[in-house]
Amino acid sequence: MARITYDAATAASFRAVREIPRDGLTAWEDAVRRHLRPSPDMTIVDIGAGTGAFATAFCDWFAARVVAVEPSEAMRALIPNRPDVQVRAGHATSLPLPDASADAAWLSTVTHHIPDLSGAAQEIRRVLRPGAPVLIRNAFAGRYERLRIVRWFPETTRLLDTYPSVEETCEAFADAGFAPAALEPVPQTDIASLDELLKRVDALRDADTLMRSLTEEEFTRGKDRLRGAAGAHDSAAAADLASSLDLLVLR
Ligand SMILES: C[S@@+](CC[C@H](N)C(=O)[O-])C[C@H]1O[C@@H](n2cnc3c(N)ncnc32)[C@H](O)[C@@H]1O
Repeated sequence: MARITYDAATAASFRAVREIPRDGLTAWEDAVRRHLRPSPDMTIVDIGAGTGAFATAFCDWFAARVVAVEPSEAMRALIPNRPDVQVRAGHATSLPLPDASADAAWLSTVTHHIPDLSGAAQEIRRVLRPGAPVLIRNAFAGRYERLRIVRWFPETTRLLDTYPSVEETCEAFADAGFAPAALEPVPQTDIASLDELLKRVDALRDADTLMRSLTEEEFTRGKDRLRGAAGAHDSAAAADLASSLDLLVLR
């Protein structure tokens, strides 16, 4: 079971407020390219592909073929229909791919939804060719100083601390024969102003697992904080728009 239900309403909110525009992903394109070492026609399995934002980006950036595995029918329905993206129902512990058929695995903001991370690591080992990397884009327990959401809604750390840590993730993958190769925070740009963030927070509360964990009071307090900073055009707060997630690479 994922931590939240990705039904039609959540899928629509996710598309509207969680997908990062392509021009906000420049640093991610660079970082993934460095670790993936792409070659044309390589096969990437995108596990928990959501609405396909990264699946389509990998096809455009790297001329890759992507198998987008996603358990939620509502999320799958929003993945763009194109010949280089194969959309498949499945879970991280049950991937609809033959043995040794993929050149990389990508998991973006998914590891905290997977109930059996060790089982997922074994299944990923099965479908990857020897030496192929696993690239994990996520927030990890204990590493939240660069997360914008935590700056404005600090109580989100309560849930974040239950996410797999980097150490726990590495342990789960070590049992399947993977070793950590890199860990780096990678920035993304999706929101231009505090006003824009303020306008989005209600929808974000639907689409974001961490935001959903807030009580009404915690949410209102954070929104008031944001409203105050937006009204003051506080330049320090504007710098606080920046946000990064970690990229953990294992081979
Ligand atoms: C926060 S969304 C991320 C979507 C996409 N990876 C992205 O970054 O845009 C998490 C996704 O993981 C999927 N998911 C939940 N549990 C999963 C599991 N056990 N295996 C694979 N995917 C899962 C959800 O259905 C949802 O689409």
